[in-house]
Amino acid sequence: MDARTRGGGPSRWLLGVTALLGGCAWNAPQTSLVPRSDFARAILHVYAIITWAALGIATVVVVALVVIFVRFRSREGAPLPRQVRGHTLLEMSWTIAPALVLLVIAVPTIQVIFRTQGQVSGALEVVVRGRQWWWEFAYPSLGVVTANEAHLPAGRAVSLRLEGPDVIHSFWVPQLGGKRDVVPGRVNRLTFTPDTPGEYLGQCAEFCGTSHANMAMRVFVDAPEAFERWIAAQRAPAVEAPGPAAAGKAIFARSACVGCHTIQGVSAGLVGPDLTHVGSRTTIAAGFLPNAKGPLTAWIRDAPALKPGAKMPPLGLSEADASAIADYLLSLK
Ligand code: CUA
Repeated sequence: MDARTRGGGPSRWLLGVTALLGGCAWNAPQTSLVPRSDFARAILHVYAIITWAALGIATVVVVALVVIFVRFRSREGAPLPRQVRGHTLLEMSWTIAPALVLLVIAVPTIQVIFRTQGQVSGALEVVVRGRQWWWEFAYPSLGVVTANEAHLPAGRAVSLRLEGPDVIHSFWVPQLGGKRDVVPGRVNRLTFTPDTPGEYLGQCAEFCGTSHANMAMRVFVDAPEAFERWIAAQRAPAVEAPGPAAAGKAIFARSACVGCHTIQGVSAGLVGPDLTHVGSRTTIAAGFLPNAKGPLTAWIRDAPALKPGAKMPPLGLSEADASAIADYLLSLK
């Protein structure tokens, strides 16, 4: 058998490596290499320390191995090299050296953890609740509650209060901060200052059940004036469109929807996402679907058919009723 019939060969390897590297990008949506907050920069700095330390150690180990291989390789008729046992200096040095390496990693890591979990005066507090399988963002000082898409002002410290009612989740927006766990029964904090307006993708980073992989979030970092406008719009009563949207409101109000969802002035459910301004969001179902008529109608009819394990049960609504509710929700800008 030659290389061709075995299906191997350098060209095949090269192709594989090229395809693999093709998936890499410096500035991908969830990169941690392009930090956009003080916290993300601090994490990247710790990574750099660890990477350089690892490279230094790798160099020492590889050089030592090569020297040892060459110097002590087996030679015809040569006697065994001197055998070393119970060498106190060697034993101590390979105990102390790894301990020093761990210290070099631990000190800056712990510093960053403590620095980013304190309370900062003047910080904007946002309560982040991880739930199966979506995120709630509440701004207690501003009277705003939203889901899956947070807005933060650029240049101002934010203090996230992480809490959750069901299982452990983990908040992770690589360009801004995290991972930090959201643990039921305790409050974790995450403090950072986003510095560049933009849209940042995040993802639950702790396995939390069936749709863990479908628990994304978006953080929009706005210029301060744009953030003020967003807050004002979220606080204002939603403007209701006439026509099918009005019919949809009536159907929503008499359906099981009201048991789980809040729409200010219409319902007060606390199980599912607050929908008061759901029409202003770009996605639904924790980033799983675009917030548009077709997907929203399908979601209202049978959510678990679209997203595994989704807690909203099929409500037995007709296509026409679901469509009218979708019109209504999309009108809630
Ligand atoms: Cu929530 Cu994984």
